[in-house]
Amino acid sequence: MVLSEKELLAKEKKYCSWGDTVHYLDPPKFFDRCEGSYLYDKEGTPYLDLQMWYSAASFGYANPRLAEALKKQVDKLPQLACQYLHSEKVELAEKIAKSAERLFGEKGRVHFNVGGSQAVEDSLKLVRNHTKKNFVFAFMGGYHGRTLGASAITSSYRYRRRYGHFSDRAQFVPYPYCFRCPYGKKYPDCGMYCVKQVDKLFETEYNGVWDSKAGESEYGAFYVEAIQGTGGYVIPPKEYFPMLKKILERHKILLVDDEIQMGFHRAGKLWALAQFDTTPDILVFGKALTNGLNPLSGIWAREGLIHPKVFPAGSTHSTFSSNTLGAAVGLEVMKMTEEVDYEKLVNAKGKAFLARFKSLQRRHRKVIGNVDGMGLALRMEICKSDGYTPDRELADKIFAEGMKGDLQTPQGKRGLVLDVGGYYKNVFTIAPAFGITEKEMDLAIDLFEQLIRRCAKGR
Ligand SMILES: Cc1ncc(COP(=O)(O)O)c(C=O)c1O
Repeated sequence: MVLSEKELLAKEKKYCSWGDTVHYLDPPKFFDRCEGSYLYDKEGTPYLDLQMWYSAASFGYANPRLAEALKKQVDKLPQLACQYLHSEKVELAEKIAKSAERLFGEKGRVHFNVGGSQAVEDSLKLVRNHTKKNFVFAFMGGYHGRTLGASAITSSYRYRRRYGHFSDRAQFVPYPYCFRCPYGKKYPDCGMYCVKQVDKLFETEYNGVWDSKAGESEYGAFYVEAIQGTGGYVIPPKEYFPMLKKILERHKILLVDDEIQMGFHRAGKLWALAQFDTTPDILVFGKALTNGLNPLSGIWAREGLIHPKVFPAGSTHSTFSSNTLGAAVGLEVMKMTEEVDYEKLVNAKGKAFLARFKSLQRRHRKVIGNVDGMGLALRMEICKSDGYTPDRELADKIFAEGMKGDLQTPQGKRGLVLDVGGYYKNVFTIAPAFGITEKEMDLAIDLFEQLIRRCAKGR
């Protein structure tokens, strides 16, 4: 018996916790099928997806090559306890370790888990094990997940408020968010004031982070997203990370690079931090590693931190950590990144899409305050008529209208799937499938324009 959506919603109300999700729409939306850049509802209406599951499905929904890799593994070795080896795990670890060596010039090892937050937890253990410090720096606007450890280093207090005292909560530092500079300055006249403020923290012991007599910081690591994901795809100036890295090196503080959302070419390079010529000590990945199929996540760390002599078997472990299905898909993803020049492809498509968004902004200056992008990580800030004050209500309205699936095109009805993020929840974080075509980019702009006309009448 096939249940109707009405019947399913009634059951959802009764049996589903909402704690494991975010209900943006009332009622929440069902989808039935997905392919390429599209989600389809029960009636078969296509919804062009511009956020691809928060960048987890970057290689396109129902990617046939990845689906095939998964099916093959189901037929070959569908499951195996992590204490035994299978070739896919080893080959995948090698490919990721070699990618880090190529981009960052550092030898290291790879370690797996099953979700982004879990991999962040593992990285925290690695930091504590090496530095014997519990405290870390992280960015205002940063997001690292919702397990307890990851919540402690995620900027939003909302994610901690209900859960008691977080004794090792990160010290949050302003991110280089130039459109809304936390110091009210303008780049490049600012002279990189923001990173100089980080340096200043170490000037005297009375700033609370550094014992100048011992030459030791109370903080073991600095957690960064090269481009903030949930924070609104904020892109820092090129100089920021190289300058930050020098400060951290001087004070023996590890740089942990959270690539969970921006990794696997979202920002144009396999690892986003490589866009800024900066080498991390630890790199955390997840999401697009398996294109969202049978999740797998993990960390890469330089040899000195993760060699089995210092980080032995059992340091972290999950029953599912290097599961065969996830590893097989991850290996296929890495093979794809070696065969296809995603650096060229993503940067070219990003440039073409960004140009279209800039032209949309020129036509709607009283709605769109800022447009920016790196690779296929694009952002659009919805603002009041002054082009600056965040307009969260309008962003929510545009989002909800896009999900109705009734936008008109010569080919029939369409929907538009967007994600609202940013410090003021007024930013569309745009992460299309890497396979997006020029035609789909034109369609996206057309649908956006219809939504603006519908939701921001008279502006
Ligand atoms: C940068 C970043 N870190 C960590 C996470 C947490 O990953 P997960 O949701 O797989 O636990 C996310 C998820 O959105 C993320 O974007």
